Amino acid sequence: MTARIIDGKKIAAEIRGEVAVRAKACAEAGVVPGLGVVLVGDDPASRVYVGMKTKACAEAGIRTRDVIRNSEISQAELLAIVDDLNEDPGIHGILVQLPLPRGLSEHEVTGRIDPAKDVDGFHPVNQGRMTQGDSSAFRPATPAGVQELIRRTGVETSGAHVVIVGRSNIVGMPMSAIMLQKEPTANATVTVAHSRTRDLGAITRQGEILIVAVGVPELVRGDMVREGAVVIDVGVNRVEDPSRPKGYRLAGDVAFEEAAERASWITAVPGGVGPMTIAMLLRNTVRSAERMAGLES
Ligand code: GUN
Repeated sequence: MTARIIDGKKIAAEIRGEVAVRAKACAEAGVVPGLGVVLVGDDPASRVYVGMKTKACAEAGIRTRDVIRNSEISQAELLAIVDDLNEDPGIHGILVQLPLPRGLSEHEVTGRIDPAKDVDGFHPVNQGRMTQGDSSAFRPATPAGVQELIRRTGVETSGAHVVIVGRSNIVGMPMSAIMLQKEPTANATVTVAHSRTRDLGAITRQGEILIVAVGVPELVRGDMVREGAVVIDVGVNRVEDPSRPKGYRLAGDVAFEEAAERASWITAVPGGVGPMTIAMLLRNTVRSAERMAGLES
């Protein structure tokens, strides 16, 4: 292995430490930051993520209001929960864990969240503002975390070719908008590849920075990585493995060992992007509380 590891766990811990200091200042000004967390259905991975987010909030001094419902819930009932959180003055951020069970409209639910409390950055108003370069817009946590990881490598992004594999609303699409911004750790030339892309390897091999978020275990092999690239693996996939106590192991979207032979920097799974998603969500939440407390710098 030649690549250096980008330690998302360590960087996320630093950010969470900064968030805790800011949350304390909010509380001292009379505003304890609050996050409303909505979990619908029984997707095991979503349960784990929500549990991790709630625990991280407690550690950072952010109060949470958890709303957990089974998949029988109607669209109207779910919208009423969002309305209630929108109205709650103790709540500064709202997170509805995605994906929602079949039959519920994610568009309608994310569009119902008050943009001022949309710490996930999924509301069309925040997505539009972000795309237009408005720095006050909340940015989705995962792509914001990826940008932070790239920033910490010190690699020049201005004019660099960033290749993103995946076009989801949660990662690939906002990631492309962020890396195009006229700002530090952006200003890149961006290519977005996806499931319909022909000869994926020919595209990924162009990436000086390669960001993979498709949810296909180890799709990107070593020979698809440009020599010296920065490789960011957003994928978290459960792969059956009877030798493990839980019966599965976690794999990224990148074949780590192979890619690490060619990359200059690489993230691992777990311990790369995942912890950053949580840290950036907390950062958005405390920022929202600061705004409401009149403390925003
Ligand atoms: N599902 C996967 N990632 C996310 C995220 O960042 N926020 C929410 N709400 N759901 C997700």
